[in-house]
Amino acid sequence: MKLLQSSLLATSLLCATHLYAQAPVVIQGALDIETDHMVSKLSHVKTKTYGGWQFWEGQYKGHPIVISRTRMGMTDAAAATTLAIEHYHPAAIINQGTSGGHDPELKVFDIVLGKTSENIGAFITPKKALGEGSNALTWNKPFNVLPNDNSDAEASRHLTFAGDNNLIQAANKTTYTKGRVVEGVIGSADVWNNELDRIKFFHDHYKTSVEEMETASAAQVASFYKVPFLGIRVLSNNATNNGGYNPNTGEACQDYALDVATTYLAAQKK
Ligand code: 5AD
Repeated sequence: MKLLQSSLLATSLLCATHLYAQAPVVIQGALDIETDHMVSKLSHVKTKTYGGWQFWEGQYKGHPIVISRTRMGMTDAAAATTLAIEHYHPAAIINQGTSGGHDPELKVFDIVLGKTSENIGAFITPKKALGEGSNALTWNKPFNVLPNDNSDAEASRHLTFAGDNNLIQAANKTTYTKGRVVEGVIGSADVWNNELDRIKFFHDHYKTSVEEMETASAAQVASFYKVPFLGIRVLSNNATNNGGYNPNTGEACQDYALDVATTYLAAQKK
């Protein structure tokens, strides 16, 4: 009986993990231009859909990889991250894709590794009366959406999310030929900023290198599950130095993210 139970358990685990002998790395992208290329490079692909979120389980260069299309924005990114963790128990999560530059030194095709990521859409605004208008440049008080829960020490969380050191190490060992790779701060919110003073505000106050709409949200969920996480963002545009939007950056970032994932998994095996 015991034997039967344990073999049933093993079978269900194997099914749950797509016969993966090693836990996979989940690589997330919001849009088709941030996922399709990676999917085309996988072998042994199986597609799964949970709710509105699609996952492609497969292998890349013999390593277990799951591609997740999170869809755009903070809410969808959080939902897709929860699904990924519950279904695949991944060794790590990489959230990658395009972004807009906040640092005038960075060019389109450069890549930012998220040493940290942060929600740049949560504020308590100053009080103003009717008719006094609104000025986002005075919104300098972040709203702490993750207050300490004193009843549960485990629930003490932070608003900035650190990229995992082993993933950063793997990324720094991985070759990228289309631009520079730097470590920096990824700022996330459901906003596309085009006002240069607003962008400078974030760059000055939050030290952001880039902005986009998913990383900090996925990082927030991953941190609560204690799953190693890294944001990898290519600049597809940079309003601070007239860097025009280039959608081909999406493919460049996908190639790089796949290589980072395999470098990481190879190191884990040793
Ligand atoms: N601002 C916000 N999001 C951006 N993205 C690319 N560039 C920017 C930018 N300048 C990414 C987001 C989202 C989609 C619009 O592309 O992460 O998924």
